[in-house]
Amino acid sequence: MDSRIQQLERKQKLYLMLREQHDAEVKELMHYMSVLTNVENNLVRSYIHTLLTDGLRHVEYIARIMADIEGATGSYHFTKKGIAESIEDEKNSRDILLKCAELASEDIETAAILKSISVDEEHHIKILEHLSELVEASK
Ligand SMILES: [Fe+2]
Repeated sequence: MDSRIQQLERKQKLYLMLREQHDAEVKELMHYMSVLTNVENNLVRSYIHTLLTDGLRHVEYIARIMADIEGATGSYHFTKKGIAESIEDEKNSRDILLKCAELASEDIETAAILKSISVDEEHHIKILEHLSELVEASK
């Protein structure tokens, strides 16, 4: 059986490798997102969507294993402060998108898409506000 020190070393090595893999997955996600814009073909789009949803799931799993190794102090936990920051970000996005929609008002379709994203952001704000209440209640 491994000594305690060997166990710790293994865990540390595992953590570092997972972090590298985590960053690699995030990088892949960014790349797939950026190529999505230029893809017209439906099959290719659907493949890229699969790569994106799988990648997102992988990032989630890996982050969870990392948080377990880090222990309760892991940075992946929802905090009221973190949620408050996300709410601010979502509000900023909503406002910027509304401004963009206004600037694009001559192009009705573009303006409509931008407005619909801003409505989604509004919904994200509501979800985050509810999450914040849940975090508060679970204390
Ligand atoms: Fe959002």
